[in-house]
Amino acid sequence: MSRRLGVLISGRGSNLQSIVDAIARGDLNASIAVVISNRAEAGGLERARAAGIETAVLRTRDYPDRPSYDRALVAVLQSHGVDLVCLAGFMRLVGAPLLEAFPQRILNIHPSLLPSFPGLEAPAQALAYGVAVSGATVHLVDAGLDEGPIVAQAAVPVLADDTEASLAARILVEEHRLYPRAIATVLEGGWRVEGRRFVNPTPEA
Ligand code: GRF
Repeated sequence: MSRRLGVLISGRGSNLQSIVDAIARGDLNASIAVVISNRAEAGGLERARAAGIETAVLRTRDYPDRPSYDRALVAVLQSHGVDLVCLAGFMRLVGAPLLEAFPQRILNIHPSLLPSFPGLEAPAQALAYGVAVSGATVHLVDAGLDEGPIVAQAAVPVLADDTEASLAARILVEEHRLYPRAIATVLEGGWRVEGRRFVNPTPEA
């Protein structure tokens, strides 16, 4: 697999920043070929520009339907030679055109231990449910919402006095460690998917 990443964002882009920083430190042997946002005001676009990374804004309202939007995403990603797509707070379901163009080549990060608490406001869901442990998950993307084989997870304890904000902030610290490592694992290759399982016989030390 080539080591050219395409990062898709919708918001502040702190996970994008963690990938940028891991590459700069030499912890992740890859480059970000393009950052794409569905929102022109996403803070992550500024982070990308500051790092000298090409950006593109593709607004859903400029496309008649989801498949044409997804085809436009594919065109931008392919024109930048992207081989691995990293969703980093991209608030849209990925449709068939993107999945077919990048089979087992799309990653997502989610702020819970999946399959618990998919969807929006996962830290609030974890608090409301009363779990003692939550965390972060990086997974291969398939057609479901926050589904797909799990590449890596990190656990975060829920504290008695946690608020949604405090729990989300502690999970985010783990997200920033987890995502660059999981990307490195996927780029390294040697893994396969068996049913739901991401099987990696030679995980990184
Ligand atoms: C993160 O919590 C990520 O897990 C979720 O959306 C949030 C994005 O944050 N998918 P950021 O834009 O990377 O700061």
